[in-house]
Amino acid sequence: MIHRKSKEEIELMRMSNQLVAKLLQKLKGLVRPGITTRELDAAAERFIISSGGIPAFKGYNGYPACICTSVNNVVVHGIPGDRALHDGDIISIDAGIKLNGYCGDATITVPVGTISKDTARLVKVTAEALDIGIAKAVQGNRIGDISYAIQSFVESNGYSIVRDFVGHGIGKEMHEEPQVPHFGSPGTGPKLKAGMVIAIEPMVNAGDWRLRILQDNWTAVTVDGSLSAQFEHSVAITANGPDVLSRL
Ligand code: MF3
Ligand code: CO
Repeated sequence: MIHRKSKEEIELMRMSNQLVAKLLQKLKGLVRPGITTRELDAAAERFIISSGGIPAFKGYNGYPACICTSVNNVVVHGIPGDRALHDGDIISIDAGIKLNGYCGDATITVPVGTISKDTARLVKVTAEALDIGIAKAVQGNRIGDISYAIQSFVESNGYSIVRDFVGHGIGKEMHEEPQVPHFGSPGTGPKLKAGMVIAIEPMVNAGDWRLRILQDNWTAVTVDGSLSAQFEHSVAITANGPDVLSRL
């Protein structure tokens, strides 16, 4: 069942998502060569707790940290640890916070030091793919209209869109119906109605879309070793168009 939110609920969700956005801004400011992903997670945990929130990822299906830190060829669910960032890396930081009973969820990809032109293009195209998907998040459209817009834009830029992980409805639970694939056909899937809140989170690979999961059962990497970037926003469907709750 797709749970549609009242205006009051959407305002509560704006609060949790704005807190996620502030956290991501803070973490972006800490990213530099030499810092470890564990240090980023520790900063995230301090920020979330001191803001009165609950880390939504920690303990979710046994996930051990507050954020996902996915570096270079890691597509998603990179677990914070001893890895130190290096000049020229990219890191996707995904954060989730529960505040006042509602979840916020967003992701940014951040350059470490100076990145190559090719890498910068991947990051830019991924950010644009999210914006293009958001523009289709209007009542009367279907989920597949978002999926198709993202896939066709990504592929027309010579990249591939990840298929094994999808976006999702979000509310009291971090993952609610409907699923939001980032590939597919226009005019298919559930119809978008005012009050739906969805997290759109395209993962874009420079090479092949196929993934492999490491021994830790979380870390997803590209099979071909190519770079991957991701951006995510939580978006409310409203009578006045898409309302991006996690944009500062
Ligand atoms: N943020 C991820 C998503 O967008 C969820 C992270 S999974 C967790 O769906 F286990 F780390 F929480
Ligand atoms: Co999400």
